[in-house]
Amino acid sequence: MARKKITVIGAGNVGASVAAYASAQELGDVVLVDILEGIPQGKGLDMFETTPVLGIDTHVLGTNDYAATAKSDVIVVTAGIARKPGMSRDDLLSTNVKIVADVSAKAAQFSPDAVMIVISNPLDAMVYTAWKKSGFKPQRVMGMAGVLDTARFRSFLAEEIGVSVEDIHALVLGGHGDTMVPLTRYCFVGGVPVTAFVSPERLEEIVQRTRQGGAEIVGLLKTGSAFYAPAASAVQMAKSILLDKKRLLPVAAYLSGEFGESGLFVGVPAIIGAAGIEKVVQLDLTAEEQVAFGKSVAAVRSLMQEVDALL
Ligand code: NAI
Ligand code: 2OP
Repeated sequence: MARKKITVIGAGNVGASVAAYASAQELGDVVLVDILEGIPQGKGLDMFETTPVLGIDTHVLGTNDYAATAKSDVIVVTAGIARKPGMSRDDLLSTNVKIVADVSAKAAQFSPDAVMIVISNPLDAMVYTAWKKSGFKPQRVMGMAGVLDTARFRSFLAEEIGVSVEDIHALVLGGHGDTMVPLTRYCFVGGVPVTAFVSPERLEEIVQRTRQGGAEIVGLLKTGSAFYAPAASAVQMAKSILLDKKRLLPVAAYLSGEFGESGLFVGVPAIIGAAGIEKVVQLDLTAEEQVAFGKSVAAVRSLMQEVDALL
């Protein structure tokens, strides 16, 4: 059986980390693309040289040429500028919309049957951009944000409770921004509701820290934003596609009536397999959760209008 092929566009912090994790997990051969001359080539070669040490049989190629990406199974879009202190994710829109439009159209042309995972920010608006420009069916385009946001929530809770991160299950809905909606009602520790371990006040503090999780890292790094956890999150999604694992993960998926919304990509639980988004899992929300989700949807729709004006 031929190896799977993963294209990663953008060889910066997130893209290089996606390539390294995907290769190290032997998910397939990786092609790393950037506009910078030498950077993808150097990082790709360096990663390929890790393979004997790691005992893995994958090839990593860095290039500026999309022809090398042909017939990829998964395309991961990380190209674009990242946040600096004082910037919101939304401040990136006018620059990144042009980059994401360009790279998603080129990559789709060479890999018409791929599933696309978008990471570039502002996330929900960039998934919409990539979908429009790729010409892909909406089920073959998704955004990475919920896995990262829940990973942050799960890490903070595991540390608070003193339990393995593996035993914490959580769900975050909505856009990747200040309006994200962590659903504490669906948070369980080894099957036990989280409220058995953490007081409502402390839980709210952890929710707030999760909402600010991206900004916390930007404040520390000062020169850019998080990349290890974002890359690991995208690779978990890619793995579910490449191995047809059908993981149920929170991702930015296209809604066609689910949650009472249509025509936008926003964070919801979905089953991810070889076909991409195989099913959006509908939940009954409380009135309070519905209001919070509605606010998040409104924020995403307003960014989509900006995208439409710029494309
Ligand atoms: P970075 O600046 O380290 O890397 C971006 C790379 O994109 C650079 O190497 C740059 O040369 C490349 N690039 C720019 N224009 C390009 C083009 N037209 N074609 C190919 N490559 C191009 O940034 P980093 O930290 O890797 O972040 C990338 C993006 O991911 C940012 O927009 C950031 O906000 C976003 N992000 C999203 C997360 C999420 O949860 N969805 C989490 C972390 C980052
Ligand atoms: C994050 O949440 C910057 O969106 C990125 O870390």
